[in-house]
Amino acid sequence: MKKISISDLSKYVGEEISISGWVYHKRSSGKLHFVVLRDGTGYLQCVYFKNNVSPEVFELTESVGQESSVICKGTVKEDKRAPGGFELDANDFTVITAATDYPITPKDHGIEFLMDHRHLWLRSSKQVAILRVRHRIIKAIRDFFDGNGFTLVDSPILTPSACEGTSTLFSTDYFDLGKAYLTQSGQLYAEAGAMALGKVYTFGPTFRAEKSKTRRHLTEFWMVEPEVAFNDLNDNMDLAEEFLEYVVQTVIREREAELKILERDITKLQNVKRPLPRISYDEAVEILRKNGVEFEWGNDLGGGDETIISNQFDRPVMVHRYPSEVKAFYMKRDPENPKVALAVDVLAPEGYGEIIGGSQREDSLDLLLERIAQHNLPLEDFQWYLDLRRFGSVPHAGFGLGIERTVGWICGLDHVRETIPFARMIYRKTP
Ligand code: 4AD
Ligand code: MG
Repeated sequence: MKKISISDLSKYVGEEISISGWVYHKRSSGKLHFVVLRDGTGYLQCVYFKNNVSPEVFELTESVGQESSVICKGTVKEDKRAPGGFELDANDFTVITAATDYPITPKDHGIEFLMDHRHLWLRSSKQVAILRVRHRIIKAIRDFFDGNGFTLVDSPILTPSACEGTSTLFSTDYFDLGKAYLTQSGQLYAEAGAMALGKVYTFGPTFRAEKSKTRRHLTEFWMVEPEVAFNDLNDNMDLAEEFLEYVVQTVIREREAELKILERDITKLQNVKRPLPRISYDEAVEILRKNGVEFEWGNDLGGGDETIISNQFDRPVMVHRYPSEVKAFYMKRDPENPKVALAVDVLAPEGYGEIIGGSQREDSLDLLLERIAQHNLPLEDFQWYLDLRRFGSVPHAGFGLGIERTVGWICGLDHVRETIPFARMIYRKTP
């Protein structure tokens, strides 16, 4: 008898097959017992009719506990009303390992309980759908860059210095060499890669000891960071919008079923098409003031400010030329107005906030030295980075997209904790 996956049922209509999985739900009505099986690829209702199976099997299909691992055998039947479109006219049932008192029952649990049981919560249909969307987002990201002449250059996780400011570094003892820090961003290394290979991206976990307890912040998150030699700020924005359109359109096409399980209104995502609106920070401040916010020029935009700005548009908005005081040391200042940096943030619609941060990089050795001094960064640690300006410096630009915020937005979730298999936050490092 053929051992198959639920996702392959359509090829076996009318045939006898065997499926291994876990008991998701069950119910009974007299002579019929229904066992809903899940195997990670889908859900299948297995129908046990009293007269077709032994009394032991019939009894077992009623007494078996939720999440017991089992093997169901029977004939595949097409059934338009069944979830997934198929049913199993079942004739045998074997328990691999019985489970009793599975802690996550269909009743409502509080979020802390669910996060404590994250290793089990992952099995529920909503979490499975989110992880499948996450995987497809990551695949679309890789496909986009791989298909556009970019080379993947992995950046180190253990680093000697800060990239995004010293206040949010996790540190660890590093043998006789003092402290090492978990990377906040692979960007500085991606810049070295771009000088070697032209168009590169780095993709990996990044770490920030952020004290923020918001629905957008994790202490460990994944970031993809393209970096391109000879790109300026405008080229960078062109790349960001083409990239976002590709990722979102691919995911809504390829993960329709999962987005339906998540009850995501995809009409809003269908709007994610070029051109995306581009406004300057100055224009963003105007919008805030028109909406009654007493906003002082020079401040960074807060989460609430981002929501007000993005609510003006039906698709993501790019905000460029932020005050250089609130941005990282490596961002190039605008030669036409040195008070602002050639930075761009992309704000997602529907209140999801910043999903991309990027900039054109400071390519002048002297100006970069000035910035490193202003930011009180240890010059010694940055000598290798300064070499990129000493030997054939060119204009270049790049950005970073946070995977979890992107998953949260595309799935329509209200917190990033559900967008990654095992979230790390200021108040959680388990399971
Ligand atoms: O704006 P950020 O800090 O930019 C950088 O790290 C640059 N070095 C990127 C580059 O130019 N190569 O972070 C980029 C993105 C944010 O827009 C956000 O999506 C995500 O990373 N991010 C976080 N996601 C979850 N939790 C956090 N604590 C995050 N901090 C940033
Ligand atoms: Mg940012």
